[in-house]
Amino acid sequence: MTPVTIESQTLHIDLGERAYPIHIGSGLMDQPTLLSAALPMGPWLVVTNETVAPLYLPRLRKALGDRPLAECILKDGEQYKTVETLGRVYDALAAARVTRDGAVLALGGGVVGDLAGFAAATWNRGIAVAQLPTTLLSQVDSSVGGKTAVNHPAGKNLIGAFHQPAVVVADLDSLATLPERELRAGLAEVIKYGLIADSDFLEWLEAEMPRLLARDVAALAYAVQVSCATKAKMVSLDERETGPRALLNLGHTFGHAIEAAMGYGNWLHGEAVAVGMVLAAETSGALGWLSGADVARVRSVVAQAGLPVVSPRLGAQKALELMSLDKKVQGGRIRLVLLRSLGEAVVTADYDRGLLASVLQQAMGT
Ligand code: NAD
Ligand code: GLY
Repeated sequence: MTPVTIESQTLHIDLGERAYPIHIGSGLMDQPTLLSAALPMGPWLVVTNETVAPLYLPRLRKALGDRPLAECILKDGEQYKTVETLGRVYDALAAARVTRDGAVLALGGGVVGDLAGFAAATWNRGIAVAQLPTTLLSQVDSSVGGKTAVNHPAGKNLIGAFHQPAVVVADLDSLATLPERELRAGLAEVIKYGLIADSDFLEWLEAEMPRLLARDVAALAYAVQVSCATKAKMVSLDERETGPRALLNLGHTFGHAIEAAMGYGNWLHGEAVAVGMVLAAETSGALGWLSGADVARVRSVVAQAGLPVVSPRLGAQKALELMSLDKKVQGGRIRLVLLRSLGEAVVTADYDRGLLASVLQQAMGT
């Protein structure tokens, strides 16, 4: 990634007493005041993993200078986003004597962010957390909005809490070391914002995808800023997902079924969401909401990002079973996020079941 100086930007997520800044830019990990301005000054514990620690923990420590920082370095992977791992974080919090005037610093991707966020939500009945996201996916999605969780064998993110961070520091420099596949997975969530809320951004993505894939810092900065601005707006309107926030789940009901059926970690979350968005577009097309050309555009922008557009052959029956475990199910009916047009999404249970089954059969077999 070419080092370029870009203007950093601070967005504000408007949640009354839980309001917080989202700083986006280059070199932000070297600016300790972004943390000290937002966090209580008791003991701090950084939670990270064995991949991210050698890359970025020394830099964070150097920036913090003399300030003591206890550390908890976890194994890397979605399979460690568990109650057992959470126990390790609580042990580290206890060993570091982190009290209510202390804080957790979550340094890593969405796995670390969700797990450390949940530890902070529950330790001493809730302490401050700073999210320092280091993957594209976590910078555009998981670090913002306060959803924290660990997985249960019965399903992903089943044990969790809403706990807003005190600050989000998205240092774009960290994207330089991100594996290519993870970068592409993050782009799925970026495309999502264009599809659900912003057709101009979708057009921009179609034109600028090569720059994003080449990790052009200015292009990445713009993509992260627009994504976070859209997410901040939706979360401000509906912090606990009783309404419009559910639109952020475009492709996720289909995607979670793919992730679960294929075994977590085999398909990355962003890859499964990518196919899920194509299936949501196909369902919207079958309902007559999107034209064939619109559906093709969705497929094409997903493919441009180097993401899969073809579903694994799970079988429609299996997919429907898994989709019926989705958190958005109400009264036994699967609510789907579908596209009224490109740039406008709706959450609905009001669609023909047969039509969904036929889209799934076409894509996944019977
Ligand atoms: P991840 O946290 O597993 O990170 C992906 C991989 O990249 C890991 O191997 C990680 O160690 C590595 N990595 C992280 N930063 C790196 C860097 N800068 N350089 C090199 N390697 C780096 O995955 P993710 O895609 O960031 O997050 C996925 C998780 O986020 C899932 O558990 C998902 O459920 C969750 N999620 C949560 C929300 C939310 O709102 N809370 C939203 C979307 C996803
Ligand atoms: N990732 C969906 C949400 O935060 O609501």
